[in-house]
Amino acid sequence: MAARQCCSHMSKVTFISAGKDEVSVVGIAGASIMQLATANGVPGIDAECGGSMSCATCHVYIEGAWLEAVGEPGEGEKVMLAFAEKPAHNSRLSCQILYTEVLNGITVHIPESQ
Ligand code: FES
Repeated sequence: MAARQCCSHMSKVTFISAGKDEVSVVGIAGASIMQLATANGVPGIDAECGGSMSCATCHVYIEGAWLEAVGEPGEGEKVMLAFAEKPAHNSRLSCQILYTEVLNGITVHIPESQ
């Protein structure tokens, strides 16, 4: 199924840019947050490496309430995040977060540098 702009009763993921532009997309189980962004043309998620955890251009900040549901980054992800601009405690690589219903409603913030 192709991802598309969503309405309120669907599972969704919201991206907020540094300029506070907000876009919500349909969450599809098994797709990464990065894939949901790129499939919907969300600006600021370039995902240059295509999700192989070697570019950090899919860096996002997870909104506080969602940190626990998302969980800790893996070791390789931590290493890569060190190359991201302005990494923070809630930094994650969006290509490493697989969407499931547990994340329905999640909000992530796109770094200013992207
Ligand atoms: S898309 Fe390259 S690290 Fe995530």
